[in-house]
Amino acid sequence: MAERPTLVRNLAQVATPLGSSPLRGRAMRNLLVVPRAAIVIREGRFAWVGEESDVPDEFRASCDEIDGRGGTAIPGFVDSHTHLPFAGARESEFNRRIDGETYAEIAASGGGIASTVRATREASQDELSALVLGRARTMVRYGTTTAEAKSGYGLNLADELKQLRAIRAASAASPVRLVPTCLAAHEFPPECPKDELSRDAWVRGIVEEIMPAVAAEQLARFCDVFVEHGVFTREQGRRVLEAGSRLGMTPRIHADELSDTDGAALAAELGCASADHLMHVSDRGVRALAASSTVANLLPGTSFFLMSDRYAPARELIEHGAIVSLSTDCNPGSSMTESMQIVVQLAVLRMKLTVEEALTAATLNGAFSLGLARETGSIEAGKRADFSILDAPSYFHLVYHFGVNLVSTVYRDGREVSSAL
Ligand code: NIG
Ligand code: FE
Repeated sequence: MAERPTLVRNLAQVATPLGSSPLRGRAMRNLLVVPRAAIVIREGRFAWVGEESDVPDEFRASCDEIDGRGGTAIPGFVDSHTHLPFAGARESEFNRRIDGETYAEIAASGGGIASTVRATREASQDELSALVLGRARTMVRYGTTTAEAKSGYGLNLADELKQLRAIRAASAASPVRLVPTCLAAHEFPPECPKDELSRDAWVRGIVEEIMPAVAAEQLARFCDVFVEHGVFTREQGRRVLEAGSRLGMTPRIHADELSDTDGAALAAELGCASADHLMHVSDRGVRALAASSTVANLLPGTSFFLMSDRYAPARELIEHGAIVSLSTDCNPGSSMTESMQIVVQLAVLRMKLTVEEALTAATLNGAFSLGLARETGSIEAGKRADFSILDAPSYFHLVYHFGVNLVSTVYRDGREVSSAL
């Protein structure tokens, strides 16, 4: 027998972007804001959204009811860039940064990514899976219902596969929908000598061994590479991403994070789903993204956490017409948070997005970059019922009332997956 629909009533507001396409420029501000709102959910999807006084009779008669307690409903956040399956922690790097060492210097001295690689290699698949699940449970409490999750701390065949298998194993129990990405080209591992020939041979191993094995088990929907001075060159990045595409993994790039390597233009040229970070993107890169469907995925938590005043030029990207999204970059070295709420706050308070632009970037535009904009990212009839109820009278409070968790209840596919009540 079909389940009874659910009526969520007594909402101060529903606030959501609309559509199955990404939003650019001024359109990022066009939220639908319904006052005194109600939502009807049927078979895991939104069936109706509007003012409570207009709920159609067919639903009034047949629905189970949920009291929205005067809160505000927003779409579930889509966190389209995370490094969830890692072990260990790097809290000691703070004081080194206070004493003046940079992220790059810490990495060069054996800290940084290499230390997380050691800890992740030592962890079992089950341990990693439990870590992923724990982080997904934190994410959902802060309103995230879909998250991308990258490998990239294994850096050899066995350990990259272990990380991706851990994501898959966590998926069934995860309250958050997980979308896996192969980031075998995150860094060169400590065992790879630093000369050009050895590094090129290592890239060949990624392309000829690791990625085909990942594809054979269908462990990743996307592939990614960290193009940066001293890490992967543009040409190596291109090789990795073209190989990934041939294997059925859509490319994304860590681009122009610590310096301008023309990564944004490479992303646009290769038709990447996203170019991520972009703190050092050039004008040429901004224009290339604006002329493409590659999403500019901005991660302000990273600038904040690394104590940098340099944030990605979000206003410029929006004003030139690029598709802009927001993500946590959740990882132990440069952004240790699962909270999309703080990311939205930083986007407004430090990158000067409007609250409406930030909400669109954190939901619909992120869903588009994961190929899920038809399924999630907005509250409208037909989409999966992924949403949060904020304990707040309007969506402005997402930024206005900062530093606290405003989320009271979260639904994914129409089911309650988190409640603070
Ligand atoms: O997205 N850029 C490289 N990767 C991560 C940081 C990884 C780490 O420090 O462990 C990032 O910022
Ligand atoms: Fe990252």
